[in-house]
Amino acid sequence: MIETTGTATSQPSAHTKPTPVPPTMRAVIQRTYGSADTLSVETVPVPDIGPHQVLVSVRAAGIDRGVWHLMTGLPYLVRLAGFGLTRPKNPTPGLDVAGRVVAVGSAVTRFAVGDEVFGIANGSLAEYALADQTKLAPKPENIGFEEAAVATVSGITALQALTDVGRLAPGHRVLVIGASGGVGSYAVQLAKALGATVTGVAGGTKTELVRLLGADRVIDYRGEHEYLDGGDHYDLIIDTGGRNPLRRLRRALDPGGTLVIVGGEGGNRLTGGIGRQIGAVLWSPLVSQRLTMFISEEHHRWIDRLARHLADGSVVPAIGRRYRLDQASTAIDDLAAGRAQGKSVIVIG
Ligand SMILES: NC(=O)c1ccc[n+]([C@@H]2O[C@H](COP(=O)([O-])OP(=O)(O)OC[C@H]3O[C@@H](n4cnc5c(N)ncnc54)[C@H](OP(=O)(O)O)[C@@H]3O)[C@@H](O)[C@H]2O)c1
Repeated sequence: MIETTGTATSQPSAHTKPTPVPPTMRAVIQRTYGSADTLSVETVPVPDIGPHQVLVSVRAAGIDRGVWHLMTGLPYLVRLAGFGLTRPKNPTPGLDVAGRVVAVGSAVTRFAVGDEVFGIANGSLAEYALADQTKLAPKPENIGFEEAAVATVSGITALQALTDVGRLAPGHRVLVIGASGGVGSYAVQLAKALGATVTGVAGGTKTELVRLLGADRVIDYRGEHEYLDGGDHYDLIIDTGGRNPLRRLRRALDPGGTLVIVGGEGGNRLTGGIGRQIGAVLWSPLVSQRLTMFISEEHHRWIDRLARHLADGSVVPAIGRRYRLDQASTAIDDLAAGRAQGKSVIVIG
């Protein structure tokens, strides 16, 4: 079931009585890179807080493709990027988080105990998670913890893809490939909110979600293989799935248009097929179109901006499925196998 409404559960932090932090917590633990079978739920010490960190009592955690990459250590480039060469540096997976602040480091200025927050943590698949204060924002009061927990990683990526990278202007024709996925489901809604005409590409029954998200037109890539063959042209293409070759994507792009490659699964084990992104950067100066890629910046200025869209209702997180903490491995498997749509959430508190 796709939920399109949030629940108001916020309390002003001033009225919140701090609860003592126990010495231990339940957490998903992973000691080696591998499949979801390598995950187990264990009782471990609550992590020690650093000066710039916030300890969050986790109410819900979101699952995204990044969690799968950090679990498997694939492509190997992930390991070289500093996440641990032979095993994960952080034994608890999970990035997206929403919950209540239960402790703050000595240098934290942005949050106080009792605040309801959302953002990106170091290991959100646990009852307590540490997050850098720069990667959290106050949770909008009109949405619940589950909605907030699935917002940040995908939402700020979509926002950056459309704005700073894609330079979207009102009236632009935007094509979102992978529109039923994590990043895509936010890209469709944000592009509409920013005044674009949006075409969303998804597969089979997932096209229904893309309609619900407000796309002006929906293409089922399983039936309409020729959708990139030049019949329609777009000012901006946001590519999040399917690994279409550059030459096909360029055919559907206006001569002055912009392609933003967010990602796409598959490719080889070493680089994940980052060749498309490298090709885009190399080709771009030689053609009239802008061909770009980027790595999402994880900073609260983006989370704050996303929060404004969540608060005014122009963006509503599309929760596909809910799981318990001990079902985290199933949630990750479902995402990797294409059984998820929108965002999956682990409900903890
Ligand atoms: N650059 C960055 O900073 C950044 C940040 C976040 C994510 N990413 C990357 O961006 C990609 C998308 O992430 P995500 O979290 O949105 O993943 P996701 O939730 O799995 O969404 C990917 C979507 O792509 C669709 N898709 C698969 N094959 C397709 C095809 N042939 N044609 C059109 N659509 C197709 C899938 O739909 P079906 O199930 O219907 O096939 C799915 O909805 C991933 O590779 C991720 O690693 C990059």
